[in-house]
Amino acid sequence: MRRLLVTALLATLAVLPASPAQALPDGQALTPPMGFNDWNAFGCDVSEQLIKETADLFVAEGVKDAGYRYVNIDDCWALKERHPATGKLVPDPVKFPSGIAGTAAYVHSKGLKLGIYGDAGTNTCAGYPGSLGHEELDAQTLADWGVDYLKYDNCYNESDGSQAEYIRRYTAMRDALAKTGRPIVFSICEWGTTQPWTWGADVGHLWRTTGDISDNWPSLKSIIAQNVGLAPYAGPGHWNDPDMLEIGNGGMTDTEYRTHMSMWAMMAAPLIIGTDLREASPSTLSILTNRDIIGIDQDRLGVQGWVVTDSGGLLVLDKPLASGEHAIALYNSTDTLATIGADASATGLPRASAYRLRDVWTGAVTQARRTIEAAVPAHGVVVFRVRPSGPTAAAPAVTVAGSSGTLVPGAGSPLATTVTNRGVGAITDLRVSAAGPSGWTVTPASVRRRALHTDESLTGEFSLTAPAGTAAGSYPVTISASYVWGSRHRQATASTLMVNVVNAPPAGRRHLSTLQPASVSGEVFYDQNSAGNLISIDSRVYVRGIGTTAPATLDYYLGGTCRSLTADVGAGSFQIYADDTLAASGSSQTLTADLTGATWLRLITTGTGPADWASPVLGCGSFAPGDPVQPASRTLFSFESGTDGFGIANADGGGSVEPSTAFSTDGSAGLLVHTPVNGNWFGLALPSALDLSEAPGLKFDMRTDTLGSVGEIAVQVGDAYTWCQGGQWTWTNPGGSRTIARAFDEISCPGGVTLDPADIRAVWVFLNTGGNVWIDNVRAE
Ligand code: GLA
Repeated sequence: MRRLLVTALLATLAVLPASPAQALPDGQALTPPMGFNDWNAFGCDVSEQLIKETADLFVAEGVKDAGYRYVNIDDCWALKERHPATGKLVPDPVKFPSGIAGTAAYVHSKGLKLGIYGDAGTNTCAGYPGSLGHEELDAQTLADWGVDYLKYDNCYNESDGSQAEYIRRYTAMRDALAKTGRPIVFSICEWGTTQPWTWGADVGHLWRTTGDISDNWPSLKSIIAQNVGLAPYAGPGHWNDPDMLEIGNGGMTDTEYRTHMSMWAMMAAPLIIGTDLREASPSTLSILTNRDIIGIDQDRLGVQGWVVTDSGGLLVLDKPLASGEHAIALYNSTDTLATIGADASATGLPRASAYRLRDVWTGAVTQARRTIEAAVPAHGVVVFRVRPSGPTAAAPAVTVAGSSGTLVPGAGSPLATTVTNRGVGAITDLRVSAAGPSGWTVTPASVRRRALHTDESLTGEFSLTAPAGTAAGSYPVTISASYVWGSRHRQATASTLMVNVVNAPPAGRRHLSTLQPASVSGEVFYDQNSAGNLISIDSRVYVRGIGTTAPATLDYYLGGTCRSLTADVGAGSFQIYADDTLAASGSSQTLTADLTGATWLRLITTGTGPADWASPVLGCGSFAPGDPVQPASRTLFSFESGTDGFGIANADGGGSVEPSTAFSTDGSAGLLVHTPVNGNWFGLALPSALDLSEAPGLKFDMRTDTLGSVGEIAVQVGDAYTWCQGGQWTWTNPGGSRTIARAFDEISCPGGVTLDPADIRAVWVFLNTGGNVWIDNVRAE
């Protein structure tokens, strides 16, 4: 036994690097790195020309002056084979005619630095050569080319998944970089898999804490939530990296992009621009180069802002700054305007008789007595630079907020407003009013108060009406407060509340999960259950439905136009109300409710725990029982009578496909895909071109036992069978199931080719992680 242990110990020692470990910190990245990386905007479409043009734009557009330094090349820059004689990585001569060395020389000539991408595995994520086992050769090659920054990825890692093994792979590259003698910033990219914040500080200068970001609000919100609590691990030379910026890529609003920039600054995150600077709009550039917000990110104290309070997705963050000031961020991750604030004594601010607040996005300066507070729009953030102030005369901080329910056109709905004086001394002659879009009415005209002292609030109750015929949607209502402060300064402060207008559902049969409820209480999930999986009852799996954690209530406006609702329900307690009448109730059956003439539909789950409405279908206006349920989908492959021609494409990787009854979302069979290696793809070349122009995209249902599986949908189009690929997704619920949906406009084609959905020649699914997956019901929808 002892002998075995000794042998094991020797084996461990044998894999330690021969040269002594080079400890970080090494004086690099004392503030979070700032730069550009092509991946978010271009994927594999990188080139020397793009990198050079970006370097030029750094200089021409003031990006360099704002502090950005690194111009970084991501995946797909190399040839697929190493040099046969030297074993070195070879830059693709078509993409990089002057090589990485020539590109680096150009970037250096602009006073900038060059970054590149590699992988701590046998291959990069896109299938180019990885550096596992070639660390010293590759580090030296990069150093010889003049590379200043290495992002080191984690695909094809051949790992046992243990943290110790991850540390070994990343440490091998750290030591290889150190051995070159060239200062190279080392960016660990293992997606937060083995909690790199606990070991990264002496291995790299930054480490990804999450999976890949994408250009939409749910992704941004989830990445912030994962990174925001990691403040203790960050500091000069070692940073949490919540991934590169999506600002400017078009999938979010400017409010959301300002939140992206602000929260990265508050979290002392690397600021790596991920948009096409050649096409960047003035508003994109103004967000990316905002000096005040960059100053917070780059503050030399290097403290990641910490969470002072988090109540229901309303966060207060505090980042102490070298000047003695504090950056205080009020972040609203919810979907409605909200008041967010904290008493100064709960933050790291010193005690003072008052505080001066400067809003870094608007420049407005106000004074608060003790509460740092603002009304923050949905998905928005307010960032103040705060310092103690004496009793100087300054505009008082006044919070103007409000809320309203969902509006039915033509019917009055209550609008509640609250105005709070957080300043020093009273405000007087306060008048509060509200205004909707033109044609809307608000009564009364205003609510007034003669004086409002520090920390007092005035609430107002208004009635808000959208005219009959207003289309469903989200509309702005402005709430304004006008008041006098000091001797005779009249001032106005306003907030915008987005209110939802609902309409009666259109005629026909429709999946209820695709309609917007007028109101919801409790936790509800659309087309999935509370565990993030497809809804299932007994052995039947449903792709449509509303999952809840009971107790939960959903209200829908019907306007007297609907006739019926049917839904399957499992264990639990379910009730369907048509206005005040109980129209159906029970458990473990198909419920059918008569809704004739009802204005409102209410669904209730009682008790506790998961309770799911499976495939609820609403029937409105005139329709026949057999009419297709909207939104309609067209089944392409159902795997009921075999593999439907599906095969494994990467023959080298082995693998198999076979029909299986273990997972099915239509009929009784699906397809089991077994791939023993990472990085396989499966699907089929079609016997004739498929016209899917009537559908926005492709969907299929999938179950996998594999954790950390990253996938993409690809199609081949046109006579040239051009590959179009994209819309990357990550698997976060191993052992679970879900619907994968990709719109055609999320799938991108190489240079110049547009994806013509009328001319699809092949359909493929890519998987980065091997294992068993089951898929079913590949459809156009
Ligand atoms: C991984 C990384 C991304 C990007 C791609 C390139 O997904 O996390 O940031 O580098 O690989 O293939």
